[in-house]
Amino acid sequence: MSQARLAPCLQLPLENKTLVNVIEKAKDWALMHGVGMRDKKHFNKDVIQIAPFILLPSPFPKTEFMKAVELQPVLNELMHKVAHDDEFLEQTLQNALQVDEFTANLYDIWLKVKNEGISQPISLGMLRSDIMLESRCPHTENQCAKHTPYCSWKQVEINSIASGFGHLGPVSREIQSYILRQLGHGDLIKNMPENRALSGLCSGIIEAFDLFGVLNAVVLFVVEEVSYNICDQRFHEFEISEKRPEIQIYRKTLNEIYEETELNDKKQLMLDGHPVAVVYYRSGYEPAQYPTAREWDARLRVERSTAIKCPSIHYQLAGTKKVQQALAGPGVLEKFMGSGTSTSRVRDIFTGLYSLDFDESGERAVEMALADAERFVLKPQREGGGNNVYGSEVRDALTRMRHSRERAAYILMERILPPLVSGYMIRPGAPVPPPLVDLVSELGIFGVIIGTKEKIYCNRQVGHMLRTKLADANEGGVAAGLGALDSPYLLDL
Ligand SMILES: Nc1ncnc2c1ncn2[C@@H]1O[C@H](COP(=O)(O)OP(=O)(O)OP(=O)(O)O)[C@@H](O)[C@H]1O
Ligand SMILES: [Mg+2]
Repeated sequence: MSQARLAPCLQLPLENKTLVNVIEKAKDWALMHGVGMRDKKHFNKDVIQIAPFILLPSPFPKTEFMKAVELQPVLNELMHKVAHDDEFLEQTLQNALQVDEFTANLYDIWLKVKNEGISQPISLGMLRSDIMLESRCPHTENQCAKHTPYCSWKQVEINSIASGFGHLGPVSREIQSYILRQLGHGDLIKNMPENRALSGLCSGIIEAFDLFGVLNAVVLFVVEEVSYNICDQRFHEFEISEKRPEIQIYRKTLNEIYEETELNDKKQLMLDGHPVAVVYYRSGYEPAQYPTAREWDARLRVERSTAIKCPSIHYQLAGTKKVQQALAGPGVLEKFMGSGTSTSRVRDIFTGLYSLDFDESGERAVEMALADAERFVLKPQREGGGNNVYGSEVRDALTRMRHSRERAAYILMERILPPLVSGYMIRPGAPVPPPLVDLVSELGIFGVIIGTKEKIYCNRQVGHMLRTKLADANEGGVAAGLGALDSPYLLDL
């Protein structure tokens, strides 16, 4: 069976001269509006280069887009409940903790903080639910009324830490609008949904700041040693200072936090003489970001403090792959959400998710994956891209790990097969005009939730981002150089 296709928003290919001309303009537009990143190969702090982008917005069915947008507050609340269910997190993670040192370190911090007594009950969740259209229809022709090149969408995962692209999502819509206008198709812009992700995410930080309620307090962004995705991060700062000029924002690495902060007798995290109201992590999600014990000490200090964390450590644990897999288990969603329609709507977005624990169902999952490895993705408890195993390597990895405890640190997930779209990917330094290629997209919906275990202060969907990659690429990280910025072009299918 050939993979399903969606038609691009304009007839392609474009004439070479038109293409070269519009790309030249678009690249300059990109550089002048923050559609940029730092160069990994020739790093220079003073230089920004264009971020890879797709020339034209990619088609996405409107009904499915709306479904995703409407479901986000439900997913936010689910994550909030999961993050506050100590027993569920413990049970779900216990096997992975034995073999995954990174998750175990996070978990230890959580235990320490809990035992000491939580000094800040409010958490700020800035979540991003990543989804892909599934082109394989499980129904037979007679059962399926739609017969569209997609069936529905499925969730890839939900991110609870450093969910990026609050700026790059909306600005992708702007650059593609500019391109459509230059091509004489400005009338199509109406099919690109409004995207206020940056404003919505920053409002979350501001609301948390106000809940903290201390006048001379500051906001702290936890950043990497080197931030390649600097435009995305900085535009969050610019947006906050535009809305609330009095809020001071600091950017510090975990090592700098170790050196420059302390807890005072009220457990306030003091930085430069100011209590920190909100800590927003854009780093701290992968082992390499904790090269020494100092970074772990810094993380513990932040968690012990009264600062409102985005995310608190239990939110980070709730965002692990293992938790996602456990939520798909029988009766688990019902435990958190009851048995109403929301529960079945959430269940519908799960693709096959299987534990690889040493028990009967884990063995069955191993057998299933060995028999048909191409159908699956093998995922460790990691964030940040580049950690998953795909295709025939799933078989090799499972054969190697089958009798080792290591396997409990992974989950097995059915591979989603999105429909193809033809398009042009513009990359820094690549020859112009680029070839017309087959692409697939992944939509991320942003959500903001603020609350304590007992009370939710705010819960909303705040915008989206679309990442698109070559159809034969496994992963689509833009900062990693695989994917490109894009935005949805809604279709009435
Ligand atoms: N089940 C799946 N089917 C198809 N593609 C998948 C699947 N799971 C993951 N991918 C691809 O791999 C990428 C990374 O997967 P995932 O998001 O689970 O890992 P991650 O390390 O948490 O990445 P991120 O940094 O984007 O949060 C996804 O963006 C998607 O392109
Ligand atoms: Mg992730």
